[in-house]
Amino acid sequence: MVFSAMVENELEKDVAYVLFTEEQIKARVKEIADQINEEYAGKDPLILGILKGVYPFYADLMRGLIIHAETDFLIASSYGNGTVSTGVLKIKKDTDIDLKGRHVIIVEDIIDSGNTLYLLKNELLKREPASLKIATLLNKTARRERPIDGDYIGFDCCDEFVVGYGLDYAGKYRNLPYVGVLKEKVYKLN
Ligand code: IMP
Ligand code: MG
Repeated sequence: MVFSAMVENELEKDVAYVLFTEEQIKARVKEIADQINEEYAGKDPLILGILKGVYPFYADLMRGLIIHAETDFLIASSYGNGTVSTGVLKIKKDTDIDLKGRHVIIVEDIIDSGNTLYLLKNELLKREPASLKIATLLNKTARRERPIDGDYIGFDCCDEFVVGYGLDYAGKYRNLPYVGVLKEKVYKLN
């Protein structure tokens, strides 16, 4: 503790403002978990997290569940390294669990253009799950290009590039405990 006080917070100095605090996120995630507890009791859903950005949301959501649920992850994106969606789905790591007849909840960090989830949902529906729903921490509707929405939404999000609580900019800032907007100078440096 004594030493960490002397270390500059490399993440926080790049944040222009906080959009959703740790407390707000914690409370909202608990509400979503309660809803899933009610709707999926006895159904043993497969909670399918989309890495990497989902990991804090996923972990907090799972700890709020008091029903049996199976865990798995896949790595999929329609993004390159930058901030613009390519519209092409890449499944880098697939789930090896058979989805046929299962109740599946896809968990994502943010829906922006909707490309990733739209393409992924269609792909997973081919595997004939009993049901397929989407939980997303953030919902950015301003730039939606596909007709897709979350069934469980943490927060509606303004049209800014946000980081923290799993969300990254160029692979960084995922470990911020809240969701914030980066200072413009951070983008301009790159
Ligand atoms: P979509 O395909 O445009 O809906 O993008 C979904 C993915 O883009 C998310 O899983 C994120 O990885 C990334 N993304 C979109 N908007 C943001 C943002 O504001 N901050 C960080 N990542 C974002
Ligand atoms: Mg992502």
